[in-house]
Amino acid sequence: MAKITVLGGGFGTALAVMLYTTQQHEITIWSALPEEIEAMRRDGEQKEKLPGVKIPNGISLTTDLSVVDDSDLVLFAIPSAYVRETCQKVAPHVKEGTVIVNAGKGIEEDSLKLLSTVFAEEIPNGAYVVLTGPSHAEEVGRNIPTSVVAASSNKMAAYLVQEWFSSPTFRVYINDDVTGCELGGALKNVIALCAGISDGLGYGDNTKAMLMTRGLHEIERLGSALGSRANTFAGLTGLGDLIVTCTSMHSRNRRAGILIGQGVNPADAVAQVGTVEGYYCCRAAYGLARRYDVEMPFTDGLYRILFENVNVKDAVQSLLDRPKKHEYEKLI
Ligand SMILES: NC(=O)c1ccc[n+]([C@@H]2O[C@H](COP(=O)([O-])OP(=O)(O)OC[C@H]3O[C@@H](n4cnc5c(N)ncnc54)[C@H](O)[C@@H]3O)[C@@H](O)[C@H]2O)c1
Repeated sequence: MAKITVLGGGFGTALAVMLYTTQQHEITIWSALPEEIEAMRRDGEQKEKLPGVKIPNGISLTTDLSVVDDSDLVLFAIPSAYVRETCQKVAPHVKEGTVIVNAGKGIEEDSLKLLSTVFAEEIPNGAYVVLTGPSHAEEVGRNIPTSVVAASSNKMAAYLVQEWFSSPTFRVYINDDVTGCELGGALKNVIALCAGISDGLGYGDNTKAMLMTRGLHEIERLGSALGSRANTFAGLTGLGDLIVTCTSMHSRNRRAGILIGQGVNPADAVAQVGTVEGYYCCRAAYGLARRYDVEMPFTDGLYRILFENVNVKDAVQSLLDRPKKHEYEKLI
């Protein structure tokens, strides 16, 4: 049994309930928002984000970060925009070698840094592991069979996460391609927004399949420029997460995309849906594509829709009008 502090009350609550009910770990959920902790105490669940999933009495709830002091593992489930500031608050409480797990998906918008870099800069004494893959909170919190990947350059830390998180309903694979796993998790949200737009426009399954397949190609191209392995993207973090995010109504990225496809202004769509990581990640991916000179047509098209006020149908048409090419550019 491990002592685990979970930071964040959304996806964090789902992971906390899963870890407590399947493994009987000692779990505390911390939130930066006192009103969130108060509501969870009162209601016995996170009614807004995870209605119907009871938080067992054995899980502690707090706004006090001193709980990290003697934790074996600290699990971040925080939107990427708040990760650096949360790391800075947590760092003074982290002992040398504490396992730091990041379940968040994104790229720091201004610096274009991957979250592993943010963690390395802010909590250098932690053993960093990214936990990613197709894992909607609504299903994880109900112990519906799910599989994810724990990636780290620290083999022992990855094994510990595999050991502590695995259960009959939660299967954890390990991987050492941290960059690939993080990019897969972050960039699939960009493609999920595109898939939602396609649904909102009333397009069909063919269009969705095109977006997922060609989307995976552009994710792989950027991944390869950043030094990740191509086969990482054929796994849970690339293909697996693309399938779940592009097809499920649990996906906030897809839901925001549907609204945009139906004519809602992108900023209003994001405000309606809540945390839409793909919106911020699109800007970061667009910046990285330019920095590394990588062709990313869907990211470019989405960027023009989200931030340059380009009409959705015009953006789609200019994607379809691109020059004819070989399916595997590198082979010709
Ligand atoms: N929800 C899912 O199904 C799911 C699944 C896999 C990964 N993720 C990733 O996990 C991360 C969190 O997602 P989520 O769905 O829990 O998001 P969310 O918007 O529900 O927020 C999660 C929590 O962040 C905390 N928070 C809010 N404002 C904060 C602030 N200013 N400072 C510190 N903490 C703050 C709150 O505790 C909140 O409950 C995202 O990167 C998301 O992509 C989510």
